[in-house]
Amino acid sequence: MQIKTAEFVKSSQKWQECPEPTLPEYAFIGRSNVGKSSLINAMMGRKDLAKTSQTPGKTQLINHFLVNENWYLTDLPGYGYAKVSKSLRKDFEKLITNYILNRKNLVNLFVLIDIRHNPQKIDMEFIEWCGESGIPFSIVFTKLDKMKPNAAKDNVEKYKAELLKTWDGLPEIYITSAEKKEGTEEILGFIGKTNAFLINNKVDFNG
Ligand code: GTP
Ligand code: MG
Repeated sequence: MQIKTAEFVKSSQKWQECPEPTLPEYAFIGRSNVGKSSLINAMMGRKDLAKTSQTPGKTQLINHFLVNENWYLTDLPGYGYAKVSKSLRKDFEKLITNYILNRKNLVNLFVLIDIRHNPQKIDMEFIEWCGESGIPFSIVFTKLDKMKPNAAKDNVEKYKAELLKTWDGLPEIYITSAEKKEGTEEILGFIGKTNAFLINNKVDFNG
């Protein structure tokens, strides 16, 4: 998919404040610092569309970007951010889960996972929750450039094995590097195909 326009629309504190749900929407979620905002920038071919930081906890609101004037890309706050108080962490979790459960036009959630780590409980629990809640999702491994190719492959295989302990099949999996712009075309291709399907089938989120 060619990106003709990408513009920041607004930051929202809760799902009720998000833009009218009239266009298909795709959201990025994952642990704080996993690289959500960086991957959005890489996909859009822009440096600072979404704000990034070396310090976890940068994105604290729901950020909407309008792409090619016909779909939304959404940057969510990270989950599992350890350095805030327990009650604030709960508030973030509520914000995220409420958004996911209530956003009518959310077509697919991309769950980002740092390729360098072994399967982590917090990610597994989140993926489990998506399944139980009937939320369509894909898995996106990030920061591929930080690992040797074989070690990266091993980690992906470990993840798949862990997922297959509880799932019958595997979701779509993308392997990316925001730094080297790898895997971004594949994600955009999926979004493009899905948007075309929604248009052909006249899916109306207002209905
Ligand atoms: P929060 O908003 O805090 O939840 O974080 P985030 O998931 O949006 O992460 P962000 O994009 O801000 O990136 C966190 C750090 O990881 C930054 O220092 C990025 O430069 C770095 N980073 C992100 N993606 C990549 C990547 O593909 N390769 C490398 N080498 N670094 C990356
Ligand atoms: Mg961010």
